Order: sequence, then structure tokens, then C-alpha cells
Amino acid sequence: MKTKPYLIYLPDEAATLDFAGRFYRTLPFGCMVYLRGTLGVGKTTFVRGCLRAAGYQGKVKSPTFTLVEEYALQGRSVYHFDLYRLSDPEELEWMGMRDYLRPDALCFIEWPERGEGVLPDPDVEIHIAIEGFSRNLSVLPFSTIGCKILEGLSSVDFKRSLPPGSVDVSSAEMAAKMASLPGKSGWE
Ligand SMILES: Nc1ncnc2c1ncn2[C@@H]1O[C@H](COP(=O)(O)OP(=O)(O)OP(=O)(O)O)[C@@H](O)[C@H]1O
Ligand SMILES: [Mg+2]
Repeated sequence: MKTKPYLIYLPDEAATLDFAGRFYRTLPFGCMVYLRGTLGVGKTTFVRGCLRAAGYQGKVKSPTFTLVEEYALQGRSVYHFDLYRLSDPEELEWMGMRDYLRPDALCFIEWPERGEGVLPDPDVEIHIAIEGFSRNLSVLPFSTIGCKILEGLSSVDFKRSLPPGSVDVSSAEMAAKMASLPGKSGWE
């Protein structure tokens, strides 16, 4: 992807939550978001900011032991994975990973490197790095949908009040993405 990463300096946790909310509002459903960065850098905090923007006010547990937590929001599913404790990427096949990525669902994946080879490719990656007591965050696109998300983030017209899915992804683009995923047999 030629699109340059979107970079932002996040001075404190509140800034991470706020930016995550902006990011969430650009996401079309059917997206796969990887979160990368060292232990305790702020990946779960970022997902919490996304879930808050979706109207979820409850506790956001880190799914370190359960591997995945599901949130039913606005009639759709948001899946939050933490693969840190995945012993083998094959475990994802047993979990039926393929069933999680649907046009009406969103997937956030912490520690995607643990599922390499089995995990579907992301649309965007969030990279978070420590910068003193603060954080530097980059958003990198990995699909045409990912590029649109970045355009949405960079848009000067971007409004915080936009509902999720405001970035316009045509049904043909989403169908092409779904068709590019491994067939059911590839996951069994
Ligand atoms: N922009 C920021 N500046 C400073 N601290 C931050 C910032 N964003 C988040 N934090 C803090 O960093 C910590 C991040 O914890 P969090 O559980 O989100 O990390 P994580 O990357 O999910 O860790 P793990 O790899 O163990 O799952 C929290 O204490 C949070 O307050
Ligand atoms: Mg975490």
C-alpha cells in the first residue's frame, strides 16, 4: 500500500481514548484491525476508546485468558482478541476464526504475531510505541478499505459526530474482500 501511515502523538491515556474514538468512527463493519506494540503500551486502552465511541459503558476486560471477548453493539458484533497466550496459531482454526470476520462484525486483534499464518490479513494496523511517559501511534493501511480509513482520518472535514461506518466502502469492495479470504475448507 502506497498510502503513508497516519501518525499521532498521544500525550496521555485520555488522548489515546479520544483518538481511538475518532478512529472507530471511520471504521466500516467487516474490518480487521491489528494492534501492535509491547506489553502495556496501550492496545487494550485503544480498544476501550473504540468501544466507548460505540456507546459501550461497561468494563473492557483484557481477553488474555479467554482469547476473545464479544460485544454486541448497535446490533452488530465487535470482537476483541488478545492472542498473547495462544500456544499455536492452529488454535485459531479450532476456534472457528473464519466465522468472526463477517460484513456485520469488527475484529480488533492484540498480539496478531501469535496467529501468523492462520489469521486473515488486516485492513489496518495500529502501532503504538512508548515515547517518554506518552505514546506515538501510527495507523498503517493494508487494503483498499484500510486506505479509505486513513483518508477518513486525515480528512479536514472529519467530524467527531459521524456515526460508525461513515467511510464509504462500496458493497463491491466489501464483497471482494470477503471473497479474498480463505475458503471454509482452508480453516478446517
Ligand atoms: N498516550 C498514553 N500516554 C501514557 N500512558 C498511556 C497512554 N495510553 C495508554 N496509557 C497507559 O498505558 C497502559 C496501557 O495498558 P493496556 O492494558 O492498554 O496495554 P496493552 O498494550 O493492552 O498491554 P498487553 O500487551 O499486556 O495487553 C495503561 O496504564 C494506560 O493508562
Ligand atoms: Mg492488552
